[in-house]
Amino acid sequence: MKRSLAGEIIGNEIRYFAEIGSTNDEAFRLGWQGLPQGVVVIADSQKAGRGRLQRAWHSPARANIYTSIILRPGFAPSAAPRLTVMAGLAVAETLKIFCPGIIQLKWPNDVLIEGKKVCGILAQMQTEADQISFVILGIGINVNMSGDDLPSDIKNSATSLMIQTGSVHSREKILINLYKNLSKWYKKLTGDGFDEIRQKWTEMAALIGCDIQVAYRSEAIRGKALGIDEEGALILAGADGKQVRILAGDASIIKEKRNAARN
Ligand code: BTN
Repeated sequence: MKRSLAGEIIGNEIRYFAEIGSTNDEAFRLGWQGLPQGVVVIADSQKAGRGRLQRAWHSPARANIYTSIILRPGFAPSAAPRLTVMAGLAVAETLKIFCPGIIQLKWPNDVLIEGKKVCGILAQMQTEADQISFVILGIGINVNMSGDDLPSDIKNSATSLMIQTGSVHSREKILINLYKNLSKWYKKLTGDGFDEIRQKWTEMAALIGCDIQVAYRSEAIRGKALGIDEEGALILAGADGKQVRILAGDASIIKEKRNAARN
């Protein structure tokens, strides 16, 4: 894997663990120690894998991908959501190589195959004087997990590459493609800006044009999903026509967008 990634920004150094608490915790520790961007942590299993909004991330041994990446983008903290958008796009492009099914991106940072979640992204940020000091981008991809391996609470909403394609996939091959795609889009993001990434992300977005609800803590906001702005925040049009900018939450569809091709 090291040789295949020579010269790439992401994956220039690999820290591998057979078992770990959480790859994000380890990458965060390394970020604190001052390790450069592009260093990746990979584990075969996680004992305390974490998801967004304080949820657990099911991380059985030798089945899936659990990786965390140190990034030092030099952005203001308000632009950090761009990184998860960029990562979602890189994951989606990677999965397209291995799976013919319909791959979509669900704001803020899920990747879906045929409407079911196959990947989640957890970004953690360390700031210093209004600047990002580093971001840890944690990516979990369900690769060779069978339907029976899925915990009962996510059985209907989650999937894996193996469930979708009926075959076992090489996690190493997927990781190499993932780090290459991440390197490509991260270079674009930190060089040319966010426009092309935003456009490509929108082409694959699951919620745009739908009436949705976004729940965050005890609040729920409803509206039509219009798109993401230049910082990666979701823009909703409320019932009163006013636009609302949303930075975090759990989105669900209330009404699908009207399909012009359907009678
Ligand atoms: C989510 O959808 O809730 C985000 C899930 C992120 C899971 C990954 S697995 C690798 C990294 N280590 C963790 O503890 N979490 C992330």
